[in-house]
Formats: sequence, C-alpha cells, structure tokens
Amino acid sequence: MIRREMLRQTALTTGCLCTCGVLKVLAQESDCCNTPDLEPESYTIQKDRIVVDIQKAPCLAEPGHAAFISAPDKDIDIILVRPDAETFVALSRFCTHGRQVLSYNPDRRLLQCNSYNHSLFELDGQVFKGPAEKPLISYVVIKNQHQLTIWRRDA
Ligand code: FES
Repeated sequence: MIRREMLRQTALTTGCLCTCGVLKVLAQESDCCNTPDLEPESYTIQKDRIVVDIQKAPCLAEPGHAAFISAPDKDIDIILVRPDAETFVALSRFCTHGRQVLSYNPDRRLLQCNSYNHSLFELDGQVFKGPAEKPLISYVVIKNQHQLTIWRRDA
C-alpha cells in the first residue's frame, strides 16, 4: 500500500509521466518502455507513405512484438505492431489522454499507455479503457510478401 501510494504521488507530481523508472528503483518488474525503434535500414519514408521491408526488421520477426517509427519532422510517430504472423497494425504511438508513449501488451492484445493512468486501446485504435476518450490515429497497412506499405487512413 505504501508503494502504491508513493507511485500515485509520483505520477501526480510529475503530471502523468511514466513510472517505469520508479518501478525499477523499487525493484519491481516493468518493461512498458522497452519498445524498440524499427531498424532504420528496414524502412523508407516516401511522400505520403512508409514502406517497410520486414526481412530487414528483426525486432518484428516474431509475432507479439512492436516497434516505433518516428520522424517528427515529417509528422510521423507510429507504433507498428505484429499481433500475429500475418497481421501488422500501425497506430499513433502517443496516448490521446496526455500524449505519453504507448506500448504493446501481447498477452492482452492491447496498446497500453505508459503513464500511471494506463489507458488501453484496441488494435483498431478505439479506446478500451480510459481516461483517454479519443481513439488513436490509425494507419492502413498493406502487406505484400515481405513488404509493408503504410499510410494514414484519412490521407
Ligand atoms: S497519458 Fe494519461 S492515460 Fe495516457
């Protein structure tokens, strides 16, 4: 109870920041911030789409994994998830509640906000559990053999 209250107070005073660092100090398990960046040699950003060669992306070789694609100068901040062997999902990597980074939880097949509040999102971007109210931006992902083509759904 004391630990829980300490985490709550930390989250409140830091304004909804991720508490992984606190959990590590307390020697508790937390891997919510371990999503890797997608290997740069595995993708190219073209005019309005991203093309990924999944043969060059070892971090997505296994189902249940996820990786970030980030190019803020091109307004791209995506979490690319491989929930199963043939399915890839791309969504905004920021929670719509307080813009904290998301992680993929393969056991629950949900995206989880890394903040103390832990909003949860479905793989289609819809809110599963708040406090977030708005869905995530979702992207179209077309798989053709070992190549993914990704573009914003509303583009
Ligand atoms: S930023 Fe608050 S729940 Fe995600």
